[in-house]
Amino acid sequence: MASPAAGGVVIVGSGLIGRSWAMLFASGGFKVKLYDIEQQQITDALENIRKEIKSLVQSGSLKGSLSAEQQLSLISGCGNLAEAVEGAVHIQECVPENLELKKKIFAQLDRIVDDRVILSSSSSCLLPSKLFSGLAHVKQCIVAHPVNPPYYVPLVELVPHPETAPATMDRTYALMKKIGQSPVRVLKEIDGFVLNRLQYAVISEAWRLVEEEIVSPSDLDLVMSDGLGMRYAFIGPLETMHLNAEGVISYCERYSEGMKRVLSTFGPVPEFSGATVERVSEDMCMKVPDDPEHLAARRQWRDDCLMKLSILKYQMQPK
Ligand code: NAI
Repeated sequence: MASPAAGGVVIVGSGLIGRSWAMLFASGGFKVKLYDIEQQQITDALENIRKEIKSLVQSGSLKGSLSAEQQLSLISGCGNLAEAVEGAVHIQECVPENLELKKKIFAQLDRIVDDRVILSSSSSCLLPSKLFSGLAHVKQCIVAHPVNPPYYVPLVELVPHPETAPATMDRTYALMKKIGQSPVRVLKEIDGFVLNRLQYAVISEAWRLVEEEIVSPSDLDLVMSDGLGMRYAFIGPLETMHLNAEGVISYCERYSEGMKRVLSTFGPVPEFSGATVERVSEDMCMKVPDDPEHLAARRQWRDDCLMKLSILKYQMQPK
């Protein structure tokens, strides 16, 4: 358990992502204060976290070495931001993805924090140079972008502002490791960071293949879920190259011409509109009707799968 001297963590915004962060930090032994502009959100978050932790115990997937009760006792609500941040080592902002709102929150924090605390945003796509420029504490600012659901998908992209101090990156990296997440250092900010750039590259080619009637939408998805995705849950595309030949050098020697030939046939950025939207939607709705109940049930199934996968990944760690 983190010693009390290690200081606490503040979550600003107690919605979906704020609640997940709270559970993760508590699993690492940190005291967590949940702040929100809406008192009701804090109350709901605390109740929801209690239920979630209970079901994690039942499924045997509670993280960390502390008991459920110990973890719950570390999380409390606070309706006053200045009070919440007192003595904190890390502040994780989780308000909606709106640049003006986030800038307002960071300007507010900038006025009340000391020179030691890390100011971290959960933003999925807002660039640090847009979020943090002009702040007195810009050296302490960073984006720590989680992946939904963060409790089962451990990746966190750490994205610095050009003026972020190396120590801020290092401390955030160490903190993420401590709570069992899998941080990656994005060395320079870039639109889409890394995860969404990869995701959009895949979506883009998937869309073109369906648009050109090469494959049906459902079969396209199977190529990922029963093909590439099986492997990608354990090794990335670069290690795949390494293993699919006698190392990366050999892979490039053997396959680079073929890769370049195929890549040169990729089409332009799709419009994501018109008849293809109808076709993809029709296929997806046959599998999962797009009403709230069916979507929620399918998300629950996805999260259950991810939970089991995270257990398997833990068991299968290379010796
Ligand atoms: P959400 O809408 O579930 O929660 C936002 C919370 O912020 C609400 O509780 C709201 O009351 C609170 N809030 C609004 N204004 C506030 C203020 N001025 N001060 C304090 N609290 C305030 O949003 P969600 O989904 O949790 O997203 C939060 C951030 O995490 C966004 O930047 C989003 O892009 C990012 N993110 C979301 C992911 C997702 O799948 N939902 C995945 C990765 C990152």
